[in-house]
Amino acid sequence: MAQAVERWTIEPHGGRLVERVATGEEAEELTREAASLPRHVLSQRELCDLEMIAIGAFSPLDGFMTSEDYSPCVESMQLADGVLWPMPVTCSPRQGELDGGIKEGAKIALVDEGGRLKGIMEVHEIYRRDMGREAKLTFGTDDENHPGVAQIYAHGETLIGGPVTLLEFPDRIARPDLYRRPAELRELFVERGWKRVVAFQTRNPIHRAHEYLTKCALEIVDGLLLHPLVGQTKSDDVPADVRIRCYEVMLDNYYPADRTVLSLLPASMRYGGPREAVLHAIMRKNYGCTHFIVGRDHAGARRPDGKPYYGSYDAQKIFDEIDSQELGITPLFFEHTFYCRKCQGMASYKTCPCGDEHRLILSGTKVRQMLREGKMPPPEYTRPEVAQILIEAYQNQG
Ligand code: ADX
Repeated sequence: MAQAVERWTIEPHGGRLVERVATGEEAEELTREAASLPRHVLSQRELCDLEMIAIGAFSPLDGFMTSEDYSPCVESMQLADGVLWPMPVTCSPRQGELDGGIKEGAKIALVDEGGRLKGIMEVHEIYRRDMGREAKLTFGTDDENHPGVAQIYAHGETLIGGPVTLLEFPDRIARPDLYRRPAELRELFVERGWKRVVAFQTRNPIHRAHEYLTKCALEIVDGLLLHPLVGQTKSDDVPADVRIRCYEVMLDNYYPADRTVLSLLPASMRYGGPREAVLHAIMRKNYGCTHFIVGRDHAGARRPDGKPYYGSYDAQKIFDEIDSQELGITPLFFEHTFYCRKCQGMASYKTCPCGDEHRLILSGTKVRQMLREGKMPPPEYTRPEVAQILIEAYQNQG
């Protein structure tokens, strides 16, 4: 895909949109070559990352990190050349794979867990990481109950880094029409004449607070990108296909079609709170958005006892430490929002003067319990059309 930088209102992160998807003859040749190469079986996370790199959503990364980028990324949120980058993007050989011939300076085949060829990596470096240090600095904890920390330990301390090329996209959930690459979304925004576009990250079914945030943000820009993350999530998160049905019913009923785009983000969730909020913003900058919503407990995770790992607004405060020019996308911060019966509308701690007795605040656990029992949550919490889809999904789950 040709770069059309002069038409875009916002530069990709690091200045150039990466494109590492092989097609046609190049793909055929690499596929032939791959047959005789040592193999690495990608984890779900790595498969998502491979795609994110290849389509340019992780620009300027063109591969899994070598230590040159990894170390400054962990220590001070930057790549070797000083570009802001908050979270490591790494690849770990599985047991026995290094004995299978993976070595520095040579190519390897990247296959999925079913053995299908997905891509190629030129291995530039094999190195070791300090897993505890990475966990503490990037996730703020080395507690293995944290889903992101658990992934570090599951992947292990040896890493292989180098540029990648994608040969076949990972299996899609049912809606290929909803996957738009960064270059495609950028072109769409140009076609629609949108200069200021706000992106909304989400991994949960859409509720009224989400709707309120997105519509408040849309008031001050030209267009809204609803950008649910549909790559790897925790097993207790609502599956992506169900969430997509919820978004579609919202688009049909409650969002202006000429100002809203729904597109799917094939990233994996890291549950990294503050640092992940920065990564989420950078990805959306690569997709051509100028603004990014960060609400309460963005990309948060909870301990087994239900307590959060991060403060409600930690994922907003981290942006104070970052130079806004280096970030290059404007974060829009929102306080905890809810429906207030006295105000008779959606509001937040910032805008509502009433006491908690007037506010409809339900925990996620309580709402899930209602849905499982086939009960509709109040319409001020979830639109009935969405609740219906969720109730059916829970019932089909058994
Ligand atoms: S996240 O892991 O993707 O952050 P979720 O899908 O729940 O989880 O949230 C999407 C976005 O909406 C995040 O920016 C989050 O901070 C914000 N958000 C969710 N619920 C609320 C709420 N009640 N008030 C304010 N912001 C919220």
